Amino acid sequence: MDRIRIVGGNELNGEIPISGAKNAALPLMIASLLTDEPLVLNNVPRLADVKQLERILENHGVDIAVHGRRLTDDDEAGQQMTFTAQTIVDTCAPYELVSTMRASFWVIGPLLAREHEARVSLPGGCAIGTRPVDFFISGLKQLGAEIDIDEGYVVARAPKGGLIGGTVNLPKVSVGATHTIMMAATLARGTTVIENAAMEPEITNVAECLVAMGAKITGIGTRTLTIEGVDRLHGATVDVIPDRIETGTFAMASAMAGGNVLLRGGRVEHLQSALDILGQAGVDIAQEEGGIRVQRNGNGLQAVDVDIDPFPGFPTDLQAQYMALMTRSTGVANIRETIFENRFMHVAELARFGADIRVEGQVATVTGVPELRGAQVMATDLRASVSLVIAGLAATGETMVNRIYHLDRGFERLEEKLRRCGAEIERVPG
Ligand code: EPZ
Repeated sequence: MDRIRIVGGNELNGEIPISGAKNAALPLMIASLLTDEPLVLNNVPRLADVKQLERILENHGVDIAVHGRRLTDDDEAGQQMTFTAQTIVDTCAPYELVSTMRASFWVIGPLLAREHEARVSLPGGCAIGTRPVDFFISGLKQLGAEIDIDEGYVVARAPKGGLIGGTVNLPKVSVGATHTIMMAATLARGTTVIENAAMEPEITNVAECLVAMGAKITGIGTRTLTIEGVDRLHGATVDVIPDRIETGTFAMASAMAGGNVLLRGGRVEHLQSALDILGQAGVDIAQEEGGIRVQRNGNGLQAVDVDIDPFPGFPTDLQAQYMALMTRSTGVANIRETIFENRFMHVAELARFGADIRVEGQVATVTGVPELRGAQVMATDLRASVSLVIAGLAATGETMVNRIYHLDRGFERLEEKLRRCGAEIERVPG
């Protein structure tokens, strides 16, 4: 298995191009199931999760084309891909395909809306919590679906004539349930209202894509989405937004290593809360025409407490990276995780660098230390893995990050982007 080797201590200086957002690309690809016409997506990142979803969609009968030349490692532009679900040949999403990636469960919404039936394996994904699907089930039932669990599969059937609009009040903000119910409601008869909807930028990207496909959605970017069902959707061409989590990750990496980096394409409005916290910690952040500039020239980092919250709050997908950063701060930072119950698995690995972190319930208390020392480490999920890379950039000596397949699920050319800015980092084939 490949590993990543880092020799810490170098500043980062230069530009890092931000790729298309994984968590927008995946649901946008799934939206292609709603129409028999082509959906063209620009700026799709080259990631293992995108590949895996391609396999799942192909199993349902979606024809997938990648345009232009196959890009080489030096290319920065994302892929342009066309997804055409002219005929759905199979409404079952089998265990073998779904179990490795939770987002693949979301196909249940479009399949049910268009084909009036779906049989989808209960999902897998990162080991960050139990991550149940009860909101999906109760939400789709509100649209008239009948749902059973059969041998590890969720079996859903729409009433004769299709789903019927209804009111869905999500007990807790859920990105996946919002995507799924919103997609399902586009083809339902009548009006659906989703209350306590997620308002992450990825939800807005998908909602605007659905509108471009002919859906009638209002309240986009708010906690209440109203969807008036239409008979059919058509094709469209849509850009995947820049990845705000990748942007935030490189902002933390730059803050950790010191130096001056332009995160090209990054959007401040997608990341305001995290950038505000970095500012309080002593990092200089500026919006420029081409992106976000992050600088830390010789100043120390101050410890700043953070509560993780749904958008527009500080994202859970940046919690591990921020914790890595705080290990080198002056003072004590309390980080409260409120979204997932088991998202502190990087704590034990950060301790291998000599970090001082205590966990009590949902709060991790990080006391800054004057030095991190390189170590052999391994992580069990995507964002935790990259937090170890961030720690390695500031650690003395050599760090070896093992089991990096998680990184390849969600970061495009990570080591190359960092190396170009001066980091000593390489992939060691294993
Ligand atoms: C999305 O996951 C993201 N994944 C996650 O990113 C992200 O961490 C998460 O949203 C929160 O922002 C994608 O977009 C592909 P949720 P999702 O439903 O939709 C509970 C990454 O690293 N819940 O918003 O699965 C759930 O357990 C990934 O890129 C229920 O209880 O997250 C959690 O506590 C990891 N029942 C909370 O809601 C349900 O039926 C929010 O989860 C659904 C969710």
